Amino acid sequence: MNTFWSKNIFGIDSLKTIRDFRFNTRFSELYLQVLPIQRGMKLLDLGCGPGSFTRCIYDWFQGDLHVEGLDLDNGYIDFCTEIAARDHYNITYTVGDACKTIFSNESFDITTSYTVAQHVENSSFLKEQYRILKNGGYIVIMDVGGYNENIVSQLEVIPISREEFNILVALKIVDEQNNIIKAERHNKHKNSDHMTMSLLNDMGFTDILHQKIKIFGSPDNPQSDDFSRLIINNFYSHYIDLAISILNTDNSDDIKHIANLYIDLVNERKAKRIKMYENNKKLWDSIETDVNIIIAKKGAI
Ligand SMILES: C[S@@+](CC[C@H](N)C(=O)[O-])C[C@H]1O[C@@H](n2cnc3c(N)ncnc32)[C@H](O)[C@@H]1O
Repeated sequence: MNTFWSKNIFGIDSLKTIRDFRFNTRFSELYLQVLPIQRGMKLLDLGCGPGSFTRCIYDWFQGDLHVEGLDLDNGYIDFCTEIAARDHYNITYTVGDACKTIFSNESFDITTSYTVAQHVENSSFLKEQYRILKNGGYIVIMDVGGYNENIVSQLEVIPISREEFNILVALKIVDEQNNIIKAERHNKHKNSDHMTMSLLNDMGFTDILHQKIKIFGSPDNPQSDDFSRLIINNFYSHYIDLAISILNTDNSDDIKHIANLYIDLVNERKAKRIKMYENNKKLWDSIETDVNIIIAKKGAI
């Protein structure tokens, strides 16, 4: 039973919240202009996490797509399976290693992954996809090309207290200069785009393309209430999640006390932001994310 990621790195709820923003239906046109996906295709999402991409892509094609998800982490896969049963998604999820899957040769028309390549040994990850793709099938490697969380306006109105900052430092979530420490530890296999494209070429992939799309959101844009609240949740869930993951690894009384205090302080700031939103006070805090997309084809032999 492997729950390393869902317990220590990204909690299920916060990863789902962040990804439900990034793959929101309002951005579907942007994705679909670039992704080589057509109705009826057989798609596997590797390292699917809590499954946001699998459900979104299934919705964007009104279910006329055979979608499967695979992840090493049982916590995410159990969650995906439950949601699929509850919300009637005809999607199959499997626990497994993306570098050595159980699938037969030439099983899929398209393999996708979002922010996974930097966590796994790249040549086995890409080779495995070459093996399980049909001739003429596509590999799609997605990543965050640039992430800008513009919370300056928000922090002017709802500043982080000294108490909150001291806890962040004590928990080793940030250093004294406010650089995030914890999340950076796991990008062990990060390659440049050029390196990834060159690896794909060496493996025999053809038609290698590099594309970027940009997604943007501010709670103060005129838009649906749900989407505004989703963006606000985005701002706070990452930090709360880091504290939860620390609690999962160290449950000593001292850590429990300060981590819980920290979560309360973040929730207080979040409640203030929601109140401002409800009172129509505009802060124009925003999130902008580049989605970096590399696509290549397994040429027919
Ligand atoms: C940053 S998360 C991204 C999850 C998901 N793609 C998303 O965007 O919500 C990285 C994911 O890769 C998974 N992962 C890491 N190593 C893996 C491996 N060798 N095989 C399958 N999944 C793996 C983790 O469990 C985690 O779900």
